[in-house]
Amino acid sequence: MSVKEVLEKRRSVRHYDANYKVSSETLSSLIECASKSPNGNNIQATRYLVIDDPHLRNVILPIAFNQQQVIEASVLIVVLGDYQAFEKDNILKIHEEGFQKGFFDASLRDFLAGAAIQYYASKSKEELTIELTRDASLASMSLILLANDAGLETITMSGYDSKQLKSVLNISERYLDVMLIAMGKGLKDGHKTVRHDVNKVIYKNTLQS
Ligand SMILES: Cc1cc2nc3c(=O)[nH]c(=O)nc-3n(C[C@H](O)[C@H](O)[C@H](O)COP(=O)(O)O)c2cc1C
Repeated sequence: MSVKEVLEKRRSVRHYDANYKVSSETLSSLIECASKSPNGNNIQATRYLVIDDPHLRNVILPIAFNQQQVIEASVLIVVLGDYQAFEKDNILKIHEEGFQKGFFDASLRDFLAGAAIQYYASKSKEELTIELTRDASLASMSLILLANDAGLETITMSGYDSKQLKSVLNISERYLDVMLIAMGKGLKDGHKTVRHDVNKVIYKNTLQS
């Protein structure tokens, strides 16, 4: 399927076959490919906390306002951003790796790493949160499209209590929880949804009409 076809067909699916298993190899390969998504300065801050323990799923269920996909989908992922990715050591390591692989020379390595370190050094926590959200969202969308392409369905969820989720999963302040993604074999199609006419969402040069 083309990307366009996958996008046209995609729906948020809320009913899943609870007996269907997605293998950890399949999930790893989907996440590996989603990790190729663009991300700020290639600092690779997005993390995927896969919840496959049925007990934990049941604990999360009321925290996610009893959305059944939390327990019925084959996979439940907490998509996270890691604030530690902004640290100098991580930035230097990633750029060194690219240099060692011969992707760029030493001067470009130093320039890119230096620019990234400087870029994040002046950012507030709020701005870093936005950076993590951007990166995790792009990777999440890729994961959704890849899952659809592999014959699976998904739903993105922000409908959960973040504080409680972090507490039951022992997610420290090092991480930002960006969203939940449930994935599996759909039992019922997601309902059809409308979109604005494209001319309502495109502006040229100015937002003033
Ligand atoms: C960030 C985000 C959070 C969402 N949270 C929920 C959720 O908690 N529960 C739910 O049923 N749908 C959730 N959705 C799905 C949206 O309702 C859905 O994408 C929208 O209605 C458009 O429908 P479609 O995805 O089928 O095209 C979420 C979607 C996004 C992008």
